Amino acid sequence: MKILGIETTCDETGAAVVEGKLNSTLGLKLLSNVVASSVELQKKYGGVVPEVAAREQVRVIIPVIKEALSEFSPKDIDAIAVAHGPGLIGSLLIGVETAKVLALAWNKPLIGINHLVGHIYANSVCEKSKIKNQKSKIEFPLIALVVSGGHTDLVLMAEHGKFRLIGSTLDDAAGEAFDKVAKLLGLGYPGGPEIEKLASSVPTKGEARQRRQRLGFSVNLPRPMIGSKNFNFSFSGLKTAVVNLVHSSQFTVHRKSEIAAEFQQAVVDVLVTKTINAAKKYRVKSIVVGGGVAANELLRSEFIVHSKRLGIEIIFPSKEFSVDNGAMIAAAAFYNFKKVDPEKLSADPSLHF
Ligand code: KG4
Ligand code: ZN
Repeated sequence: MKILGIETTCDETGAAVVEGKLNSTLGLKLLSNVVASSVELQKKYGGVVPEVAAREQVRVIIPVIKEALSEFSPKDIDAIAVAHGPGLIGSLLIGVETAKVLALAWNKPLIGINHLVGHIYANSVCEKSKIKNQKSKIEFPLIALVVSGGHTDLVLMAEHGKFRLIGSTLDDAAGEAFDKVAKLLGLGYPGGPEIEKLASSVPTKGEARQRRQRLGFSVNLPRPMIGSKNFNFSFSGLKTAVVNLVHSSQFTVHRKSEIAAEFQQAVVDVLVTKTINAAKKYRVKSIVVGGGVAANELLRSEFIVHSKRLGIEIIFPSKEFSVDNGAMIAAAAFYNFKKVDPEKLSADPSLHF
């Protein structure tokens, strides 16, 4: 079965064709993948301006879909999947209405996919050339951590299609905190990769770290809610701690990279500790991590260490599929194939699990 996936929830316009066979132990084959991003435009404003994002979606949606389908004719496609929320209403409408029109014109089944569910399934996609070596490693029950610019959610899954939200952020999402702290430190947008780059020059362990501590460079930031019994998160206090540091008399240029490293470590400590605690409590067989923040190297390496200790499989998408794309929407549709009437599918900015 070949599915066309369309993603337009925020500032990326994605279209991809993914192929898979039900009951196969292999991952899904990526046949085409096109992503256009308005990030360069958004950089000027230091964040996503919804109106700008929506206008760009209108401008590029047809060329992006055309390119993704350049080697196919409509008769090769078995279904059309579209992310219908959560997201920015203007951006969402473009993808949803385009998918509805294509489904009606080509007489194809239409599947509405929750963008957050898409992030969970991003790891099932695999490039054509690597498909023979790629096993579909998902084993249930599993815990999924979705960490993006708008969400930080822990979800328990007993099987495909069954999502139980067990924890969420009470305020800022982890990616949002990365973006806001980057802005405070005078770095560019999106903030996650910028903070990661700046932090990479700072030793977080060993003798080198101690030397920096003696020189008075190092900083200590809180790990909000790390010891709480529930699985909720909070990142706005951590952001405020950085605001206070930046505005204090102790702030020097030497401390900028130190703050970036300590902030990144604090976010990673909280995300990993809470997810591992949930994995233990619910005795899961695998942990899946998805969303833009899943591209972070420190998060990946710490998850690998801790899940190995527990003997649990840890699954990440490739970095390309951590951030928004159409392939993850097609992949989610493959495992959650629920046809909807095009007249009944609407964009829903506040959709959740
Ligand atoms: O999933 P995504 O592409 O869009 C949303 O659904 O929000 O996630 C974007 C978020 C941004 O906040 C960005 O700063 C963050 O993911 N991000 C990262 C990294 N790459 C992207 N955060 C930390 N480290 C990264 N390497
Ligand atoms: Zn996303």
